[in-house]
Amino acid sequence: MTNSASAIDLELRHPAGSTPIRVGAGALREPSEELLNAVDERSVFAITSPAVRGLHGTRLAELEARAASWQALEVPEGERAKDLTVAEGLWRELLRAGGKRDSLVLAFGGGTVGDLAGFVAGGFLRGIDYIQLPTTLLAQVDAAIGGKTAVNLPEAKNSVGLFHHPRAVLCDTELLSTLDPAELRSGLFEVVKIGAIYAPDLLSRVEERLSSLLAADAEALAPIVAAAVQAKVEIVEADPEEADRRRLLNFGHTVGHALEAVSDYRELRHGEAVGYGMLFALRLARRRGLGADGADQVRELIRRVGLPPLGEVSVAALLQRTARDKKARQAGLAWVYPSALGEGRIDSAIDLEEIERTLREFLADPWSE
Ligand code: GLY
Repeated sequence: MTNSASAIDLELRHPAGSTPIRVGAGALREPSEELLNAVDERSVFAITSPAVRGLHGTRLAELEARAASWQALEVPEGERAKDLTVAEGLWRELLRAGGKRDSLVLAFGGGTVGDLAGFVAGGFLRGIDYIQLPTTLLAQVDAAIGGKTAVNLPEAKNSVGLFHHPRAVLCDTELLSTLDPAELRSGLFEVVKIGAIYAPDLLSRVEERLSSLLAADAEALAPIVAAAVQAKVEIVEADPEEADRRRLLNFGHTVGHALEAVSDYRELRHGEAVGYGMLFALRLARRRGLGADGADQVRELIRRVGLPPLGEVSVAALLQRTARDKKARQAGLAWVYPSALGEGRIDSAIDLEEIERTLREFLADPWSE
């Protein structure tokens, strides 16, 4: 990790090479020479959403000036972007506009734009370069890091995708100032997640600075984003294609994805669903080593970050969606929880009867022990 006056530079090494990751307040206003060189004289396709383009599109001016040609392609907001028909539309636009193997895709938006744009870049002409410019906290600390790309099918989220690492990632925490406060909270749950299973000092750092973080203070956010990214880099480098340890990052996601799916991705934001998913997994954790103090600390931080109420959900619907989750393996579902603060465990030996009973308890009162 190196720090310039206003930015923190990290690197993720992976089987296809390495990805430089820059985190900083205002980092996009002063793009690095490395980033400018990556755009230089290339045909650039900036995949973005109307809202992000309207709010922040002018921040790409310096990159645009360096490109040989530039086309902004807008995709729908939210999960609706992660659809095969949207991907097909983009591939066809790229072809019509003369996209070639040396063209470059920019993913300028939240996690959904990043997942889609990475998928489009990964599939176009068998794979072209892309750069992640994430504009939400959730994308900066999680979705844009680690090369996962995907679209959804009606049956399951992220069920069609590939590993395709970006050429570079730039996380400008100034972009977070325009986020809906609920979206900022949603991203913080991913920080809590990685703190609980891998980097426990992140939990206390978030606790200490929570009001500045929730106020979208770009200077306060930058070191937290960088620390969360560094933790994720270490996990991904050890297991780039999720054969094993990378599954730790799924803490809160098994029930989280099921909660999103039962409401057709409309009621809960991804991070909020993960917040509830972590509350569920803490119950499993308490029976398997996690002390009451550790569980209380995570639960209290989730409470302080703030979750919306959970609507009507049935155990049967959740169970059905859980079994369809892409993390389901033949041997049974792998559950992720902290066995101690900062020590994630992947456990495939929890029987369905316990899951069903725990889901019942959780839905009756998500916050109780
Ligand atoms: N978002 C989880 C992962 O990248 O593995």
